[in-house]
Amino acid sequence: MYLSLRDILTGSELIDAEEYIASSVGVMMAGIRKCQRKRFKRDLRVGLKSCVLTSCVWLLVLVVILNSWEKRLLLKATDEACLEHISQYSPLIKEVEPKWHDVRFNGTFLHENVYRQGAGPEVDAAWEALGVDYRPIVVPLEKAEESGLRPDQVRVEDIYDGGFVANVEGLHHLHCLNILRKSLHWNYDYYMAEKKPPFSNSQDIVRIHVTHCLDILRQQLMCVPDIGVLGQVWYKLESMPQPMPFVDFNTEHRCRDFESVRTWAERHQLPDESEVDLEHFYRMPEPGGRIYSEIP
Ligand SMILES: *[C@@H]1O[C@H](CO)[C@@H](O)[C@H](O)[C@H]1NC(C)=O
Repeated sequence: MYLSLRDILTGSELIDAEEYIASSVGVMMAGIRKCQRKRFKRDLRVGLKSCVLTSCVWLLVLVVILNSWEKRLLLKATDEACLEHISQYSPLIKEVEPKWHDVRFNGTFLHENVYRQGAGPEVDAAWEALGVDYRPIVVPLEKAEESGLRPDQVRVEDIYDGGFVANVEGLHHLHCLNILRKSLHWNYDYYMAEKKPPFSNSQDIVRIHVTHCLDILRQQLMCVPDIGVLGQVWYKLESMPQPMPFVDFNTEHRCRDFESVRTWAERHQLPDESEVDLEHFYRMPEPGGRIYSEIP
């Protein structure tokens, strides 16, 4: 048997009970709502916190990226501005990153590295690997004027992409130094007997070539004299009663990345003469263009 509240309680008691139940339910609901609000607030706090944290991390990443990007741009702009200030314009200014870095020269007096060896295939290969015998490169027409090339200088025909025939000066300097090396009196006979250019010429022409090289290097060294200083160190051989001073040639230098220059020049070489139709390779001088009456 089932009794309802109405069966047990009188009218007023019933009202009291109903009010009591209603208020209890109200209190409970309010509790639940409060709880829900609390949880909602907590969830909101956690959510906000993690949101702020993630944003911070992303912001940091963005700042780091932008910063390094800006530094790179700034460095690039500085490098370009400095080069344009101190150097003749060259296609390499925009196309080859200088990558300035510090290098300690190896100024050893007694230990001969591969570039200092006596005449032979090994030392020749080492010098050749520096790019000293690369074929010329092409300077595109639109970059010729700012590169200091005159319109009547030598160009290749349009079928070979037009452009001016040129050499990277730094590699020419090394080419010259290599010829001086081959002309050292203890190497000279070896290379004359080998008869490879420029030693395939008569002795007089070789002499002219060598003194040309010597003087170009003089002018280059006087153009950018290194103003660093060479200190001295003490040395004392066992046989010596006291230490003696000796120049310390192992000094620090700020250098361009030579390898980038070399690979650029290697990539931009004109095709080998055997691969082109030489009759139509060079564009013949225009009327009025300067033609020297002797080798300048
Ligand atoms: C300098 O070069 C010589 C010859 O290659 C080598 O023996 C020597 O270890 C080098 N010195 C330094 C400090 O690298």
